[in-house]
Amino acid sequence: MSGQKILVTGGAGYIGSHACVELLQENYDVIVIDNLSNSKSESLTRVEKITAKSLTFIQADIRDKQALSDIFTTHDIYAVMHFAGLKAVGESCLQPIRYYQNNVYGTLVLTEVMEEFGVKKIIFSSSATVYGEPDTVKYSEDLPVYGATNPYGKSKAMIEEILKDLAQADTLSNASNPWEIILLRYFNPIGAHISGLIGEDPNGIPNNLIPYVSQVAVGKLEQLSVFGGDYPTIDGTGVRDYIHVVDLVKGHLRALDSLGSISGCKAYNLGAGKGYSVLEIIAAFERITGQTIPYEIVDRRTGDIAENYADPSLALRELSWQTEKKLDDMVADTWRWQSQNPNGYE
Ligand code: NAD
Ligand code: WQD
Repeated sequence: MSGQKILVTGGAGYIGSHACVELLQENYDVIVIDNLSNSKSESLTRVEKITAKSLTFIQADIRDKQALSDIFTTHDIYAVMHFAGLKAVGESCLQPIRYYQNNVYGTLVLTEVMEEFGVKKIIFSSSATVYGEPDTVKYSEDLPVYGATNPYGKSKAMIEEILKDLAQADTLSNASNPWEIILLRYFNPIGAHISGLIGEDPNGIPNNLIPYVSQVAVGKLEQLSVFGGDYPTIDGTGVRDYIHVVDLVKGHLRALDSLGSISGCKAYNLGAGKGYSVLEIIAAFERITGQTIPYEIVDRRTGDIAENYADPSLALRELSWQTEKKLDDMVADTWRWQSQNPNGYE
């Protein structure tokens, strides 16, 4: 609702910055807390440029209880969108303590302070990775949240469990101001704001497909390694459900609308409900950018699965949300961001 204050943790990051744009455009007041461990404050300057509105930025860590308390003392926060977290799968296998410390402990500090201030509405950035490796390729929310294959994914599953317990405790005690918690399980967010001013700005060599392909297209990287050509998929390469980041953050706005009328903890998939293979992504990039994407098919990447995509029907039914952008929009917007900002925010 217009004028309500939303605390956006990790708001300077890729998805958080796009959420700030949508929130400001829907007339919310935005307070960002970010420690800039994986982002630059320039993203927020650009958010203000896109929207011609200002937001409040506090550079701090969500594990800093005093900093969080100061925010809740100064601002009458309606709800929290919780994006802050570390997200690199490979890195999490090498630095598990850092991942659990940042993601799980960070969420504990955040929810502890929220509870102290009676602010008990939160939308959490979860991931399809919490489903682990189920026996199906189409994931619906009733699948067990079990078997994530790496510390990053396990940290998301643990946080989901913690948040469910908070809601359960309020049910047991018949609390007068119960937790309202929405877990949004993202599939593969890609794309950028249509202005080309904000987008994904990974540090170093990208791990994920789309940033890698776009850096090949812009000439920063020589060729793409396609991880596996012998999966039981349409063309042997991995299939994923790619979702435009603006569609994704619009899902958060619809989740925000539903707060106030739900109680407890609810999980929703945010995905398009359709998968594309790596070769289909390469073809789309070549078509949209006019560049050739050199690639080589190499061995499978450890921990990858063949195929997955969302069953997004629950979000349509209960949040009146579905994706609107098509693959060509995702690639064109990625390319606009990448070609206008070949070195990201630097
Ligand atoms: P990102 O790294 O661009 O953004 C995360 C932001 O959080 C960064 O700005 C970082 O500086 C900040 N941050 C991290 N730890 C912090 C801390 N302790 N205190 C304060 N700020 C902190 O990542 P993103 O792609 O925008 O992802 C946002 C959220 O969505 C993450 O929780 C991520 O796990 C989740 N998610 C992302 C994807 C994806 O593919 N991008 C998929 C599923 C879920
Ligand atoms: C997509 C496809 C690869 C890079 C990851 C996380 C997941 C979620 C989203 C946060 C796969 C192939 C990739 C490359 C390739 N993040 N690929 N060459 O693995 O589906 O999901 O990001 O929650 O938790 O695991 O995304 O973009 O890495 O890979 O061939 O250089 O592209 O094998 O089939 P993934 P991705």
